[in-house]
Amino acid sequence: MFQHIEAFAGDAIVALNEAFHRDLRPHKVNLSIGIYCDEQGQVPAQHAVCEAEQYLAAARQPKPYLPMEGSARFRNAMQELLFGAGHAVLVQGRVATVQTVGSSGALKAGAEFLRQWFPSSGVWLSDPTWDNHRSLFESAGIVVRTYPYYDPAGGVRFDAMLAALRELPPRSVVLLHACCHNPTGVDLTHAQWLELIPLIQDRQLIPFLDLAYQGFGEGIEEDAFSVRLLAQAGIPFLVANTLSKSMGLYGERCGALSVVCADDRQAERVLGQIKFTVRQNYFSPPAHGGQIVAHVLGDPALRASWVRDLTGMRERIRSLRRQLHTALGRKWAGSDFAYLLSQRGMFSYTNLSAEQVRRLREEHAIYLVKSGRLCISGLNAGNVERVADAIVAVQ
Ligand SMILES: Cc1ncc(COP(=O)(O)O)c(C=O)c1O
Repeated sequence: MFQHIEAFAGDAIVALNEAFHRDLRPHKVNLSIGIYCDEQGQVPAQHAVCEAEQYLAAARQPKPYLPMEGSARFRNAMQELLFGAGHAVLVQGRVATVQTVGSSGALKAGAEFLRQWFPSSGVWLSDPTWDNHRSLFESAGIVVRTYPYYDPAGGVRFDAMLAALRELPPRSVVLLHACCHNPTGVDLTHAQWLELIPLIQDRQLIPFLDLAYQGFGEGIEEDAFSVRLLAQAGIPFLVANTLSKSMGLYGERCGALSVVCADDRQAERVLGQIKFTVRQNYFSPPAHGGQIVAHVLGDPALRASWVRDLTGMRERIRSLRRQLHTALGRKWAGSDFAYLLSQRGMFSYTNLSAEQVRRLREEHAIYLVKSGRLCISGLNAGNVERVADAIVAVQ
């Protein structure tokens, strides 16, 4: 019966990560997967999360199904993280928020909702973008195209991006990374976001923001700049967010999809339709991760502890960027690695070729993604010099 089933090509980054774990060289360095690791190479268990888990275990609550839209406490907490407590769109009840299976689930639920209600709209992704964006939208039946984004000479090809978006038919969906662009680390500046707003309004585009790294760029509030700007401008849009990275809850799969609407009645109908999408897929979201998040964000002391941990993660990433930059500058006079300092978040696009990435892996046991994406948090005081030596050696 299953004779004709073809092998799944797999996820390139997951496969690379598996190859790393099979590698027996003791000095190996994993700069591939998008998971935050500490100085010891471990995914840290945050104090606030551990406290919340103990509280939940002691409470011995029953485990009924959550409603299709998820827990109200979690959804409110997500809205406050995204928009800030008391934002007009929240007070006016204009945001439909659904708890989802990570932000992958949010992107997929959003894609299916758009496919159903904007059947002739395509989606435009930045070139490049997180690999899974394409397959999440394509599998929802949406035609995927790209707009110019990354400039290997530094920054964003902003004029080309604007020119491309200006040509899109009304109601086209434009996926935008709210901060800490994956894979490049290159973000739009505030001035560029401000320039984008009238274009989105003129062309009647539908922005779909992906906010996977809130708190990794400049700060929790600062990284929500684009979300709040669009809301302020009265633009209808979608936003997917997640606690995978910022609370280290990767495996708990807790994210959210929020849709900002014109008024509360619209938001109610949109919420109903997204619940319908959820019902068609998995009926209701997992509860545990959302309970942890709601408990942490609802308790002032635990929230403060989370903010401290996240600040520490962000500052460590920045410090590692500076360390790699200094080491490369010392080992390679005249080199220009200024991008390491200007890019934001966990990733840097290094402009290393696929061949150089292969040599780093085979000759130096240093694992990067084929595109040249380097996950900064895999660096530490013990390996940064060796990584810099190896990058110079493969030039
Ligand atoms: C840009 C971006 N969006 C979404 C996700 C999905 O995250 P999750 O499904 O764990 O919330 C990732 C994960 O790496 C990502 O980098």
